[in-house]
Amino acid sequence: MTKHLYIKTYGCQMNVYDSARMAELVEPLGYAPSDTPDGADLVILNTCHIREKAAEKVFAELGGIRRLKSAKERRGGRMIVAVAGCVAQAEGSEILRRAPFVDMVFGPQTYHRLPEMVAQATRAGGGVLDTSFPAEPKFDHLPESMTAPGISALLTIQEGCDKFCTFCVVPYTRGAEFSRPAAQVIAEAERLVAAGAREINLLGQNVNAYHGLASPNGPTGGGDWSLADLLRALARIPRLERLRYTTSHPRDVDAALIAAHRDIEQLMPFLHLPVQSGSDRVLAAMNRRHRVDDYRRTVEKLRRARPDLALSSDFIVGFPGESELDFRATLDLVREIGFAQAFSFKYSPRPGTPAAAEDQVPEAVKAERLAELLALLQQQQRAFNDAAVGKTMPVLFEKPGRHEGQLVGRSPYLQPVHANAAADRIGKVLPVHIIAVRSNSLTAVIAGSGGAEAGR
Ligand code: SAH
Ligand code: SF4
Ligand code: F3S
Repeated sequence: MTKHLYIKTYGCQMNVYDSARMAELVEPLGYAPSDTPDGADLVILNTCHIREKAAEKVFAELGGIRRLKSAKERRGGRMIVAVAGCVAQAEGSEILRRAPFVDMVFGPQTYHRLPEMVAQATRAGGGVLDTSFPAEPKFDHLPESMTAPGISALLTIQEGCDKFCTFCVVPYTRGAEFSRPAAQVIAEAERLVAAGAREINLLGQNVNAYHGLASPNGPTGGGDWSLADLLRALARIPRLERLRYTTSHPRDVDAALIAAHRDIEQLMPFLHLPVQSGSDRVLAAMNRRHRVDDYRRTVEKLRRARPDLALSSDFIVGFPGESELDFRATLDLVREIGFAQAFSFKYSPRPGTPAAAEDQVPEAVKAERLAELLALLQQQQRAFNDAAVGKTMPVLFEKPGRHEGQLVGRSPYLQPVHANAAADRIGKVLPVHIIAVRSNSLTAVIAGSGGAEAGR
């Protein structure tokens, strides 16, 4: 009999990747994905701890899950509730204390043991806690992916972080930096492409710090591979049309990676390169290990190598000690660089991180700065999207759109693009003319189709 599995994923794309792997791990036990927790046999909340709100949302969600679990028990059924991911790692025993109906708590590095944990929770009923950092990486224990990845697939190549930015929980929740061996990554990429993926987004908390064991079939024959080496090898996989990687650290953009942007046609000209602040004083207090000018120079080199490159970034406002002048420097940097897209956040003190113990910027000041930065970033994003109108660009079509005869794809810059086209164009890269901008997407006609195929 099929059992129902409900997974809710919070946080970054690495969690999205992990959730897919968790679903694959319990499939042999008879669990099939369901899109509601109501009546589910196994509920997994794959959580994020990056900001305070992210963790609060989990406890709020758990309240609802608890009611569903009780309701199912009253009907004589059983629901196993698991909290996974970064909140689990950071607050493992606290979760079991605050929410004793939770059966399993495990972190990002131990979910390969999920089948054992489910068996244990089924037998014993409650209280399985595994937030260790095993010596052997989970990747060596995960089954080969069986689910269809979709046109655009995620592939984790690097995990954890040794940078210890003073605001960030990731080094504590994901553990020390680890790179998967290149041969393992290439094999997974080949499987994804064989299963229909045409784009692969390589993931890592600090993805350009990648230094995986060289593939024995590779040109360098031994030692470690950098991200640039890996990208070159992946670009040789037939039918893999597009490569992306995220999230990279400005400190780890080296000459080889810049050259990869120049040489590798499949590598999309869009880079998420978080800078966090435009003030050297704040960057130093954040332990970002680079100055504003280093960022500027890296961007210059990237743009010289790949003139059509567009940038995305992350910003934190109201970091402890950030003055009005520091904040103005961030605005200046944004104006100078010009971003196609960006995320900005109010600094959120995280337990156990050094910056949490510093003097905090008042909430009202943070809110004011965030609003000002957001307005500027949104203006830049609009200008970037507006500039697409009248241009022809390649779009990878991913799925049917909401309207009959319409497909949705992505531009090289990850902008969603709607166009009318036959369903057999899914998975293909086609040149399109952009004819209009909507709030969150572009409207296009397939180039050469005479305009009859305008997407609505
Ligand atoms: N590894 C990536 C970032 C991962 S976290 C990097 O080094 O850039 C994603 C983003 O969340 C960060 O870039 C940062 O902007 C934001 N962030 C992380 N910790 C935060 C905190 N304590 N408060 C507010 N924003 C935070
Ligand atoms: Fe966190 Fe990124 Fe800094 Fe690592 S490099 S500590 S993941 S912000
Ligand atoms: Fe969140 Fe963990 Fe990712 S804290 S951002 S889910 S690495």
